[in-house]
Amino acid sequence: MEELIRFDHVSKHYQMGDTLVKAADDISLTVERGEFVAIVGKSGSGKSTCMNIIGCLDVPTSGEYYLGGQAVSQMNKNKLAEIRNRMLGFIFQQYNLLPKLSVLENVEVPLMYAGMDRIARRRRALEVLETVGLADKTRNLPSQLSGGQQQRVSIARALAGSPAVILADEPTGALDSRTSREVLEMLQDLHDQGNTVVLITHDNSIAVTAERIVRLEDGRVVYDGSSDDPAAVVTHDEPLVRRSRRKGGTPA
Ligand SMILES: Nc1ncnc2c1ncn2[C@@H]1O[C@H](COP(=O)(O)OP(=O)(O)OP(=O)(O)O)[C@@H](O)[C@H]1O
Ligand SMILES: [Mg+2]
Repeated sequence: MEELIRFDHVSKHYQMGDTLVKAADDISLTVERGEFVAIVGKSGSGKSTCMNIIGCLDVPTSGEYYLGGQAVSQMNKNKLAEIRNRMLGFIFQQYNLLPKLSVLENVEVPLMYAGMDRIARRRRALEVLETVGLADKTRNLPSQLSGGQQQRVSIARALAGSPAVILADEPTGALDSRTSREVLEMLQDLHDQGNTVVLITHDNSIAVTAERIVRLEDGRVVYDGSSDDPAAVVTHDEPLVRRSRRKGGTPA
């Protein structure tokens, strides 16, 4: 097995006046090539913190993050940009498409940064747009597409450079349930084809699409294992609203 992601005692701490916020608190985990992992947890549990570290957008306060076997903290700016481009494909909740570029051009952008020539990148962009079923929309602007179609463009863009890891941050957050299902099925297909997918979500019903679930609470991993295990979706949440005590009932 080839290890693509390794967190070795990763912590991210913020000093806020008198209190120390542990956004990530001693997280150790590895992701092997070909895995489909969901990182799940409620608001404030540390998902974005982990996403930013995995995506090389932020560095840990302590511990080390290895991407493709290389220690990220040791890299200079150029090396970081290079490894991000080569290793990671990003899918965001809000698609992050460039509004003035056509669908085709949007998919070409990362290939341009990767230094691919014009003809090769056009060919590759068309190929991945076909994969996501948008071969007939290449000349459209993003604003001329539905939300689900825009997310498929962003999936094509993430795939274009054949990255080692596809990193999806709440990819269905802006979509209705039917379109969400389409996008999740697409991630599943990518996994079936051998891609490594890391899905970040607060929603258990979305997390169970993955075969492995890493659950965060207060910056710590409280579950890491199969999504089939009932324990994968157990949370330690307080009830949303407390049942009111009946008037005249026995005092607690
Ligand atoms: N730049 C920062 N400065 C101070 N505290 C921060 C900073 N970034 C995150 N935190 C804190 O770290 C904790 C984890 O934040 P994080 O954004 O990773 O949570 P999350 O799981 O992504 O939540 P959400 O589902 O709401 O996006 C929170 O308590 C947050 O307030
Ligand atoms: Mg977040």
